[in-house]
Amino acid sequence: DREVPKDCSAKRQRTGPKVPLTLPVTPSRYDGPFPFYRRPAEMGHFSLDAQRCYHGDARQLRYYTPPPAEGPSPGFDLRDGYRDRYVRQDESVREGLDHLLKWITQNRKLLPTEDKGRPLNADFVTWRGHLTKVLTTPYETQEGWLLAVTLFRGTLYISEVETEAARKQREERSELLKELMYMGYKFEQYMCADTPDGTPDPTGVVNTNEAYCTVIRTRLGTHSLLFSGEVDCTDPRSPWSDPPSCYVELKTSKVMHSPGQRKSFYRHKMIKWWAQSFLPGVSRIVAGYRGPEGSIVGLETFETMKIFQLIREDPGCWKPAVCMNFCAAFLAFVKKVVTEDNPKLVHLFTWEPGHPVSFTVHRDSDYTFLPDWYVEALST
Ligand code: A3P
Ligand code: MG
Ligand code: MG
Repeated sequence: DREVPKDCSAKRQRTGPKVPLTLPVTPSRYDGPFPFYRRPAEMGHFSLDAQRCYHGDARQLRYYTPPPAEGPSPGFDLRDGYRDRYVRQDESVREGLDHLLKWITQNRKLLPTEDKGRPLNADFVTWRGHLTKVLTTPYETQEGWLLAVTLFRGTLYISEVETEAARKQREERSELLKELMYMGYKFEQYMCADTPDGTPDPTGVVNTNEAYCTVIRTRLGTHSLLFSGEVDCTDPRSPWSDPPSCYVELKTSKVMHSPGQRKSFYRHKMIKWWAQSFLPGVSRIVAGYRGPEGSIVGLETFETMKIFQLIREDPGCWKPAVCMNFCAAFLAFVKKVVTEDNPKLVHLFTWEPGHPVSFTVHRDSDYTFLPDWYVEALST
């Protein structure tokens, strides 16, 4: 008997062009013109409350409320409350894409479909943070990543898997690092109010379960993307009135004293800040500079779209076009490799510094990440 291929994707794998096995990450390979990136559009939002429970509304959205521009430096004490007013999210719980998938099941009417075989009009669904890691890969020398990919009803879902190294680092985090992490969240509390005209309340508890997430649709080259990202606050007085442009990303960093320190900050830290905010179209990043005693000694605002002007004088610096071209190439690589539509099949893409991206295939394994309730919801 003649063997009949089960579907076209199986046929393509047997007789079509060879699928590449690895993807290089060398920056020079991606040093071309900036690719097409459509203005990110907000499709909706959701909130995670103090118990990390999902709500399909903006209850956790906070309002940017900086200290008066004139007058003394703010003197925020970022260590205040670390011991007695800190509720930490349980990072050992693997949430995967679940919150975003829940938003999708509740908002499918907002995502018009172009054909019956594809209930979701997007090539990729993922977290913004996963894409940030992809964007910075050509310049990353420390931390590798693992990204699980499943093709389900015409859409590729990308969900991060914690590497062994990352798990070890998380479990063995030093006291100093734990306190530094707290300080990042404490800064948000000093800079945000619960209402547009309110004042920040630094006497409250810092609870890292709480989050407000925006859901963004955009396009990179030939890839349509639907992703969600956590947003620190919105500026009710922003010159850009609509989301996502009116959102503000808050960051802390050690105060700098020399041009050399600033150069290093641009090279190694700004790339992550830029990638995180550029992807969802967040137009401003407000940096709070930490003094040695854990107080904020200065604030600086960066316009996301102008960051490339700050870094282009340094020939040894990263290039936004390289990041975006690499991301487009990675998404094209994923499309070529993952062709079997099956919610229980996972291609695990893996990258370690100094190596190209490669992948392994896992059927019905622990890597399966699309929950049954989601598969059922999209099958009807
Ligand atoms: P800072 O980045 O200001 O130090 P985000 O900036 O993305 O809104 O995250 C808020 C804070 O969470 C960070 O504040 C940092 O303290 C902590 N944080 C986020 N991602 C982290 C990571 N990968 N490792 C350690 N801390 C992290
Ligand atoms: Mg944040
Ligand atoms: Mg932040």
